[in-house]
This record gives sequence, structure tokens and C-alpha cells, in this order.
Amino acid sequence: MLTGKRILVTSGPTHEPIDPVRYIANRSSGAQGTAIATALRDLGAEVVFVTGPAQVPAPVGVKVVRVETALQMLEAVEAALPVEAAIMAAAVADWRVANASDQKMKKTAQGFPDLHFIENPDILRTLSQHAQRPRLVVGFAAETENVIDHATAKRARKGCDWILANDVSPATGIMGGAENAVHLVTAEGVEDWPRMAKSEVADRLAQRIAQALA
Ligand code: C5P
Repeated sequence: MLTGKRILVTSGPTHEPIDPVRYIANRSSGAQGTAIATALRDLGAEVVFVTGPAQVPAPVGVKVVRVETALQMLEAVEAALPVEAAIMAAAVADWRVANASDQKMKKTAQGFPDLHFIENPDILRTLSQHAQRPRLVVGFAAETENVIDHATAKRARKGCDWILANDVSPATGIMGGAENAVHLVTAEGVEDWPRMAKSEVADRLAQRIAQALA
């Protein structure tokens, strides 16, 4: 059980504005993060759920913090500390538009908007190196090839404890779908979990988190 344990979950995509009516986004539905928050809640955790604009409704019985951009998500994550564990399931945009416009960009005969990108902060890495680092930090790796190799390298690069890795090639139907097939990468090695419902992945992960924090 996780009774009384405060756990942070990030979920959903971020939206990075181009102008007041346009944004750059990704295909994350928020389904896996929402399922994880629900499973942790069901084990008694006090869940802080920081979510971008997701397609699935946020769980009830958790503290919901709604954000839009990666910068806002970082701020919300830091404001939620201290927590015992953090599960970073959000699909944070890697870049934002440096020259986003305050006014709606107009279509002109002169050509196309000249958008410039800058890198967003890596929230998972920032949290893994934070003075108030949670005891357990879990990241995700959505890959389309060499899933295990990339996830193992990512675990080291980000400085998190576990990586839950999955193959998001369009043929798998995982992104936006109801099922997931994941590999849990830890300091001890790699566990391959069979394909199962995202809710089952969430339940299994929540059990593992409960064991790790016991
Ligand atoms: O580097 P990549 O985006 O593949 O890493 C995925 C993991 O890092 C996920 O856990 C995601 O939530 C987290 N992440 C983050 N901040 C970013 C990019 C990714 O927290 N700017």
C-alpha cells in the first residue's frame, strides 16, 4: 500500500504556442499517465497529477494541476515537491517556438512564417538532479527502434531510477491506443512485460512502486 505517500505523476502532451491561436503538439493522449495516477490513488497514495492538454479526463480523487507548456509543467513539478516518487509519463515537447507572436500571424503574399525553435528544459533530468530529488524517479522512453538500447542509454543520461520503455511505431497502435507493451529498465537489468491494457501496466507499475517505497 501507498497510504499517505505523496507521489507526482506528469501526463499528457504539452502545447507550445506559435501565436495566440496556433500551437505545436504531439499525439500523446494522456491515457497511460492517467491510468498510473489512478492505480497509485487506488493503493492509497496522495497523487499530484500535473497534466498537459490530454484527451482523456483526469482521474478523480487526485490533485489535478493543469498546464499547457513545458515551462509551465516544470514550474508545477517543482511546486509539487517534496514527493516520495515521481512518475514522468508526460510527452513533453522537446522544443518551443522562440519567436512566438503575441498577435495572430497573418497569411501574406511574402511567404511563410520564419519560426525559430529553442530547446525546452528536460523536466525528468532536472528532477533527477534536484536538491529535493524524490526517492524514486521513473521516466518513460517512447521509441520507434532499438527500444532497449535507447532506453538504457536514456536512463543513464537522465539520471532517473527506472525507465518504462515502449515501442510507439504506428504499426503497434500504442500511441493513443488502449494497450501497451513495455520493458522496465532498472539498475538490475531489463524486464519485458507482455502486451496488456494500459490500466494493467499501471497496476503492475503501482505495485512495483509500492514495493520500492516500502
Ligand atoms: O528524451 P525523451 O523525451 O525521449 O524522454 C522521455 C522521458 O523524459 C519521459 O519520461 C518524459 O516525461 C521526460 N521528459 C521531460 N522533459 C522533457 C522531455 C522529456 O520530463 N523536456
